[in-house]
Amino acid sequence: MKIVVIGGSGLIGTKLVNRLRSANTEVVAASLASGVDIITGEGLPGALAGAQVVVDVANSPTFEARAALEFFETAGRNLLAAEKSAGVQHHLALSIVGLERLPEVGYFRAKIAQESLIKVSGIPYTILRSTEFFEFISTIVESAFDGNAIRLSPVLFQPIASDDVAATLAELALGPALNSTVEVSGPEAHPLDEMARYFLAAGQDKRQVITDAHATYFGAEIDDRSLTPSGKHRTGSVHFADWLSRSLPRWKPPSSPSPSAATRPTNSTTNKRSSHDEHDRR
Ligand SMILES: NC(=O)c1ccc[n+]([C@@H]2O[C@H](COP(=O)([O-])OP(=O)(O)OC[C@H]3O[C@@H](n4cnc5c(N)ncnc54)[C@H](OP(=O)(O)O)[C@@H]3O)[C@@H](O)[C@H]2O)c1
Repeated sequence: MKIVVIGGSGLIGTKLVNRLRSANTEVVAASLASGVDIITGEGLPGALAGAQVVVDVANSPTFEARAALEFFETAGRNLLAAEKSAGVQHHLALSIVGLERLPEVGYFRAKIAQESLIKVSGIPYTILRSTEFFEFISTIVESAFDGNAIRLSPVLFQPIASDDVAATLAELALGPALNSTVEVSGPEAHPLDEMARYFLAAGQDKRQVITDAHATYFGAEIDDRSLTPSGKHRTGSVHFADWLSRSLPRWKPPSSPSPSAATRPTNSTTNKRSSHDEHDRR
């Protein structure tokens, strides 16, 4: 089987390509760096020739609303048209949990547009919606920094290791198209402000996190349902403290392995079952 990973040089793409290569498939890592441009279409026909599966983990170079919308619409149209010509049988794309709950976030509207194009393309598809990656927490923190302090809401937040996202994508890429959307999250949910404090302390960053129920998330007010899975979903196995230990080798976790004693699980997902278990949030 030939699988093309669009965005194969990115955070998720690199990990996914490595996993698929060890699964004995022919894998093409396609991106600007390899001469494939999903905006101009350059290099696409050659990369897709003979491919059965395309995984799209490309990303817009900017989060700015209009530019991101233009990126995902143009890229989506070019990619799906090229896949039709090449006879691709499964289009798998990575998206984000909770898009329609935060329409005020321009980047989220762009991802909705990407999903819509996939659903009407006629190509068998699977959309994996993930919660935020652990690696994205630093971006959230910086976006909430007003020059003095970091203002964050105490809403539930259930981020995931990028390794777990790549593992879930690899499993989906090797299976049949589901023609539906699947969700995946990390194994634990914590208040966002607590998680940011824990993250900053681990990096010896002395900035203060102020808890503010009205603090916005990229311009949108959020609640406990905004950033957490909405129903039956898969759960990654990597815990935040373990990821921090690996990312910051000199950091030693405090006696409590969790960001906060006030941890509020969203449901039965906060357990230690395998990374691909599915759960129902009620
Ligand atoms: N961050 C999160 O917490 C989160 C959560 C859920 C879902 N997601 C989604 O996950 C996906 C992957 O994110 P990521 O962090 O892995 O992305 P990333 O590290 O920024 O990588 C982006 C990739 O897109 C490629 N790319 C950009 N413009 C391109 C173009 N015109 N033609 C071809 N390739 C192009 C880049 O290629 P070059 O390296 O060659 O430039 C790179 O391989 C995104 O769609 C994002 O929406 C993110």
